Amino acid sequence: MKTFRETVKPSDLSLLRQRIVGINTKVPLFNGTLSPYIFLDNAASTPVLTDVLDTVNDFMPWYSSVHRGSGLKSRIATEAYEQARSTVAEFFGANNSDHLVIFGKNTTEAINKLSYRLQLSKKDVVLISLLEHHSNDLPWRQVAQVRRIKVDHEGNLIEEDLERLLEKFKGRVKLVAISGGSNVTGYIPDIYGIAKKVHAAGARILVDCAQLAPHRRVQMKELDDPEHLDYIAVSAHKMYAPFGTGALIGRRDTFESGIPELCGGGTIDVVTTKQVEWTAPPDREEAGTPNIVGAVAFAKALKLLSSAGMDKIAAHEAELTGYALEKLNKITGLTVFGDTDPSLASSRLGVIPFKVNKMPHGLVGEILSTEWGIGVRSGCFCAHPYVTHLLDVSRQGLERFRTEVLDGDRSNMPGVARVSFGMYNTKAEIDVLAEALNKITTGEYEGTYRQEKSTGNFYALGWEPDLSRFFKL
Ligand SMILES: Cc1ncc(COP(=O)(O)O)c(C=O)c1O
Repeated sequence: MKTFRETVKPSDLSLLRQRIVGINTKVPLFNGTLSPYIFLDNAASTPVLTDVLDTVNDFMPWYSSVHRGSGLKSRIATEAYEQARSTVAEFFGANNSDHLVIFGKNTTEAINKLSYRLQLSKKDVVLISLLEHHSNDLPWRQVAQVRRIKVDHEGNLIEEDLERLLEKFKGRVKLVAISGGSNVTGYIPDIYGIAKKVHAAGARILVDCAQLAPHRRVQMKELDDPEHLDYIAVSAHKMYAPFGTGALIGRRDTFESGIPELCGGGTIDVVTTKQVEWTAPPDREEAGTPNIVGAVAFAKALKLLSSAGMDKIAAHEAELTGYALEKLNKITGLTVFGDTDPSLASSRLGVIPFKVNKMPHGLVGEILSTEWGIGVRSGCFCAHPYVTHLLDVSRQGLERFRTEVLDGDRSNMPGVARVSFGMYNTKAEIDVLAEALNKITTGEYEGTYRQEKSTGNFYALGWEPDLSRFFKL
């Protein structure tokens, strides 16, 4: 008899939903009932696919150290790890002669690695934009002069400002590091058009693809194509393979000389007490035993996304996004930030930030979870400069929040609530969200909520679900 895995084709997205681990999980609500969990925080991390989990289990009997062992299991594990590398390269259109794939923990680690390996000085300029996640902002502040491309009131990048900065800092801009898709507004810049401008100015481009890659086809392109991407960073946990892996994919020539930021086992050819001969990349860049299971899981997830079809995924998510915007736009007292036009849904990601009346963002998130079993996120999403820009927070306001946080009071931190869709979400789930938000805006919720000053988190008085009932180590 054929297994479920063999009978269901990933090209059918509605069937793919059944391959999300935990999709039918029920969670307790404030009213004492159990309700299907609705997960709308895919921009943070996606759930795992059954196929990915099965592949991990199939691989485990063969798990062993890579590269340095002579046993058969070691050979199999090494083969699997290198196959995973080739699968990642193929998915992103990287070719072995010009590019390499360096595995690491996540996008944050990938960007930090690049910031070290580019060997910049404080005279060099790195252009980022105001919409960046902190992971594509803070590493550059440590190694170069950072200048920010402006964004408009909706949070869209102003390309003329990029052109202005490229001209102003002519010859000094070494890198333009921009997000491929915003984790706050879902805005997608024209990365290939921007790459062309960046290359014309003699600089290179890094695209933080943490948000873009799970939802759109991203291609490195040949180095002689003016629209090529020099470096991209991705996280597997946002692509249905949460096993602790990410990758930096980039120009091979950047890593062919120089010393990696982490040195140790696996990075060398020969060591004497006086000399070190570094080995060729990518091994030089992956000090210590790598996350072999994570790489295998990541590759399996990419194979599934490919066979599902990135275009199909994008179309389905655009339909969800347009549908959600139509519903949320109609709710009195609810403000959507960023682009609110449902007819433009296909040109952005399914990430929608919003506020309800004057309610604190954390309270909205907590009520959705406690009373409707809906998982969202609220706050500034590791993009403080961008969110405070969208909220039009004044300089004095920013200073006040800073002082309060330093005093241990997070109760007034600015922020918004955010829903974000994955390829498996449905319109029926959005209907539940809209119904919940309609009720929340009119005050029709049951609990009484208190805020904890030190964390800013809200909780419902008298409601404390026993988490160990669901999972315990
Ligand atoms: C746009 C963007 N960049 C970078 C990151 C950091 O990703 P990670 O936490 O996997 O390193 C995130 C995470 O949410 C993100 O949304």
